[in-house]
Amino acid sequence: MEKQEWVKRIREEVHKQEGTVNSDPYRQAYHLMAPVGLINDPNGLIKWGEDYHLFFQWSPFKTGHGTKVWGHYHTKDFVHYTLEEPALVPSEWYDKDGCFSGSAIEEQGMLHLFYTGHTEENGEILEEYQASAVSEDGRTFRKQEMLLERPEGITPHFRDPKVWKEGQRWYMVVGAQTEEKRGAVLLYESSDLKQWSYVKRLAEALQEEGYMWECPDFFRLDGLDILMFSPQGIAPDDISFQNTYQAGYVIGRQKGAQWERGDFRELDRGFEFYAPQTFEADGRRLMIGWMGVPDQYEEAHPTLQNQWIHSWTLPRELAWNGERIVQTPIAETKAWRTSELPVSRTETIENDQREVEDINGRVMEVAIDFEQIGDMWAVEMFHEASLSYKKSRNLLTLSRPHPEDAEQTQFRHVQLDKPLKSLHMFFDHSSLEVFVNDGEEVFTSRIFADAALTDLAFTSLGASTFHVKKWDLAPVEIESELS
Ligand code: FRU
Repeated sequence: MEKQEWVKRIREEVHKQEGTVNSDPYRQAYHLMAPVGLINDPNGLIKWGEDYHLFFQWSPFKTGHGTKVWGHYHTKDFVHYTLEEPALVPSEWYDKDGCFSGSAIEEQGMLHLFYTGHTEENGEILEEYQASAVSEDGRTFRKQEMLLERPEGITPHFRDPKVWKEGQRWYMVVGAQTEEKRGAVLLYESSDLKQWSYVKRLAEALQEEGYMWECPDFFRLDGLDILMFSPQGIAPDDISFQNTYQAGYVIGRQKGAQWERGDFRELDRGFEFYAPQTFEADGRRLMIGWMGVPDQYEEAHPTLQNQWIHSWTLPRELAWNGERIVQTPIAETKAWRTSELPVSRTETIENDQREVEDINGRVMEVAIDFEQIGDMWAVEMFHEASLSYKKSRNLLTLSRPHPEDAEQTQFRHVQLDKPLKSLHMFFDHSSLEVFVNDGEEVFTSRIFADAALTDLAFTSLGASTFHVKKWDLAPVEIESELS
């Protein structure tokens, strides 16, 4: 199908369905979603000129995965967004079944996209190629004659190029599967962005580390080499690796010709977090993730009936604290607050459960600082989900009804290194992000609570004293070129 035809049909679909999507009480206020259909990975995140360009994996005609296009938002401030026409749609033999994930860079004033051309036969993956497109105006993209085929020893699972520059050279990492069915990250280099040479497998899964590594990202943080990726096939281990697929990172170091790395660590402890991508802007390392996990309860989302599914996380800034990556909401999120001053309360609860005056709402930011914590402290949210802390084990647990069977409760835990001292929580109509102890741990999850409920109930066994602040948050504004 020609690009024009794709855009015309997508426009029609948006027209037809956006009223339905927007009427859904679970529609997010300040988290980006697709205007209709399915959103997954953040792609091509970049600050180009004054604008942050945020592309997204988008399945516009259905609420399932399938043939993907690159949707396209841009913003100067993370408050006012423009939704452009899709940047990339299948149009060539090598991307006929989808323009899959990838990244963006700037070179000589031009915006370059690198993406995966996905092809299938009878519903099975046939081949994947790394391809590129370029734009002068940041709105229309011209596909280039660059095509990378998988190297020897790699199966057709070969995708998600992330490109960056170091000195005068360009580098690319690609997610892959080896013929031994292990996840791997492949490294390429180039001097002109057209001719790429395969360097080596930068990293490869050990026995227990999964059969496919998706969405690799490579960057420096505080002088350290970080390789981030989303592995598939890691088995649950006690409280770790509980989701169907994971997202996390390893720290590495160049030793002679070898790049040596440490253990894989998870980036998030919640139910929905996958395929994060980072980029550098204004001296900051920013990251957005997909608030979803492939093949995990996707059919049970209540939003399917309103023709949409999934959203992104809020944009976060990464830092290294000497031990781990810490994540904090970017400073721009403060502009979402509807008032400068929060509602502020100090509360002591002892062997009791109760609400705290005026600390309620649905689209809000809640910051809690603990002065003392009893044996157990918990907050129950909208009679649906609960976050509880068990002091003797330093264990923080998020629970919610199982999406496929509301009679059952499911749990995600993290064992904190240090006692709980603060929680920074972002609630949207159907999600929760909790930044624990200044972002040392994060829980990212969807929550489909009754839309009419706004109450938080706090519990303490023993005596807990905490300071709590609340801001209501306003929806971001989206000007749509597709409406
Ligand atoms: C990760 C992923 C990528 C792929 C894309 C397709 O969620 O599977 O590996 O490029 O989604 O939408």
